[in-house]
Amino acid sequence: MKRVLYTTLVLSLCMACADNMTPQKTTTTASTTATGQRAAHASSPAADPEMDKFIDELMARMTLEEKIGQLNLVAVGFDVTGPVVSQNVDENIRKGNVGGVFNTFTPVAARKLQEMAVNNTRLKIPLLFGYDVIHGHRTIFPIPLGLSTSWDMEAIERSARIAADEASADGLNWVFSPMVDIARDARWGRIAEGAGEDPYLGSQVARAMVRGYQGDDLSEENTVMATVKHFALYGAAEAGRDYNTVDMSLNRMFNEYLPPYKAAIEAGAGSVMTSFNEVNGVPASANKWLLTELLRDKWGFDGFVVTDYTAINELVAHGIGDEAHVGALALKAGADMDMVGEVFLKNLKQAVQSGAVSEEDINKATRRILEAKYKLGLFEDPYLYTDEERAKNTIMKPAYREAAREIARKSMVLLKNEKQVLPLQKSGTIALIGPLAKNQRDMIGNWSGAGDWKQAVSLEQGIRNVAGPGVKIKYAKGANIADDEQMIQRLNAHGGDLEIDKRSSEEMIAEAVKTASASDVIVAVVGESQGMTGEAASRADITLPGQQRELLKALKKTGKPMVVVLMNGRPLALTWEDENADAILETWFAGTEAGNAIADVLFGNYNPSGKLTASFPQVVGQVPLYYAHKNTGRPFGGELLDKYKSRYMDVTNEPLYPFGYGLSYTTFDYSQPQLSKNSISANESLEVKVDVKNTGNYDGEEVVQLYVQDVVGSITRPVKELKGFQKINLKKGETQTVTFTITPEDLMFYNNELERVLEPGEFKVYVGTNSRDVQEASFTVRENQ
Ligand code: BGC
Repeated sequence: MKRVLYTTLVLSLCMACADNMTPQKTTTTASTTATGQRAAHASSPAADPEMDKFIDELMARMTLEEKIGQLNLVAVGFDVTGPVVSQNVDENIRKGNVGGVFNTFTPVAARKLQEMAVNNTRLKIPLLFGYDVIHGHRTIFPIPLGLSTSWDMEAIERSARIAADEASADGLNWVFSPMVDIARDARWGRIAEGAGEDPYLGSQVARAMVRGYQGDDLSEENTVMATVKHFALYGAAEAGRDYNTVDMSLNRMFNEYLPPYKAAIEAGAGSVMTSFNEVNGVPASANKWLLTELLRDKWGFDGFVVTDYTAINELVAHGIGDEAHVGALALKAGADMDMVGEVFLKNLKQAVQSGAVSEEDINKATRRILEAKYKLGLFEDPYLYTDEERAKNTIMKPAYREAAREIARKSMVLLKNEKQVLPLQKSGTIALIGPLAKNQRDMIGNWSGAGDWKQAVSLEQGIRNVAGPGVKIKYAKGANIADDEQMIQRLNAHGGDLEIDKRSSEEMIAEAVKTASASDVIVAVVGESQGMTGEAASRADITLPGQQRELLKALKKTGKPMVVVLMNGRPLALTWEDENADAILETWFAGTEAGNAIADVLFGNYNPSGKLTASFPQVVGQVPLYYAHKNTGRPFGGELLDKYKSRYMDVTNEPLYPFGYGLSYTTFDYSQPQLSKNSISANESLEVKVDVKNTGNYDGEEVVQLYVQDVVGSITRPVKELKGFQKINLKKGETQTVTFTITPEDLMFYNNELERVLEPGEFKVYVGTNSRDVQEASFTVRENQ
């Protein structure tokens, strides 16, 4: 067995001791305002004596009931995501029973509730205003999975910055984002809400989002507090079924699932939301190891923890006690704010009296909520975020729509392009077919609460805008997104606005075939409805829903070139489409400017540069599927008759499209990677250089990817792991040398003692255009002398 060369700290193997990394705290910048009352930024853990003094004095005046009131978060009636909605909100605010509200926005509505709190409660403590601002507030950007496929951290940060500007102008000061759950199971609807399967990329996205929302100073009127969610491991729900049990080794947890949460916390995220699942047998909202020992004691988090929607009440169904008991458990575990469930409000006073919790437990939670309000500037000005004039000048301003178009273009992934069918000519006749071709509602995707789909640009409109009068469009719907009556009812019951064509499928397909036959090229716009993705939207069949594949089969028979434009929120199983379409463009749900952005790509005004961040399986039976898998003792090498191998009888192990995959209208050539050294000591870095040449006919962007494999470890290591990427712009014919630095940190991992270690031996380096098509080099980490 290899000797550990370098560890950051040694801890024994127990959950309570897990994670030994020294918390990397963000630097605190402080400013004193005219009133001298406030100062701290984001979640800087450095001491802030002025804040402490202010809150000490305030808390000294608070009754137990008032303290408990601060721990209560209420939902104001629309856009609910759980079975329960808060009752008697106004009355509870007036009584001081509310610390924050969500699902209320606009400066007028927020001001009304804020006045209710400030004018009617004894201590005039202002409310927090939260909301699910997930991929834009009013100007909607691509769904988070789509944002991540841009691999462009500046663009992702900009989308969050714009969302923060709009949200804060719209009465809000707190957003329930970023969602950083690693997801490797395409059945899970919420894979749409995160950055995909990879912890390295996921961590970069998490940091970019937090920076975008919070800026440098939370007390500015145009920044909002971020919430890292769902803590933790929510993306690993068994069988991809939402809210389902999670059971995971510590090894996988620390190396693969926890890094993005940690990255967001290091970036200064002000709050954390618990997840619905259990972690090592204890539901997250009552998990003291998770919420206190790991999050606060090891990682140094000093913001507040809000539960997910009614998650404390749900502890009863998890089977860990009755309501009074689970309320005490959750508080003592480290949950500070109870979302909607009112378990804290109804039970904590009694719990103090019975001794189940101490007033000190409540004080800790109350203090954290008050600190958040202080950092947001609410004690200084409770109406900071309710400026109607600013709302008018900020929300959906043209520059923001333009940014949404630019960012949407970057998120699109070209999956296939045979015989250069794309880009399309700006002349001739296009058969624009499919249930999503004229659609506006679905384009803004799931979790676009304040977005107005009527403002979204459909693809039909986008083609007209971009291609101009030289292109004739002939439209046929061809199929409904869904035909199953129950599915339609479910989608529409939750705001789906599905328009179902009553004609038979045969009739619709016949019309589409006729339209296609009279055109030069088919653009088939197919996919999911937004409601088939996101929360409580797991699918066991991840092919194109309804009759859409039948439609494509019929169109194929016309012999016309067929471009498939996909709109969807998860990796789909597209084996037939890959074999039969001439081109496939993955556009996700691309947001307010979707139609313009897609048309920009289709007609070559923008050369696609997106790369997948979640593997696309050949069939659903392969999931969970991810590139950074382990090798097993019986890896399958592809021999048909090789029986006793880790394989399926009916399909290979490979994804249809691997992680990191995406084409361009141009082509790129990679040189063999060159390493600056063949061997290094454990505290040295080394450089990897590769020449990338644009060998095609267009200028274009390429995401150059670096993977590392630790060949022999004291525990098994993945076959490769992403450790660097650079998105570069290359003119036609241009060559650039891309340099990566591999640091000791990149080579470390958590072993089974939960030590973070770098072990000597051979490492392989892979550089390439995706996780599959790479060139290899290797180096050695030497034993310490
Ligand atoms: C979701 C969270 C969301 C919350 C508030 C829950 O059902 O899991 O992601 O932030 O509702 O809407």
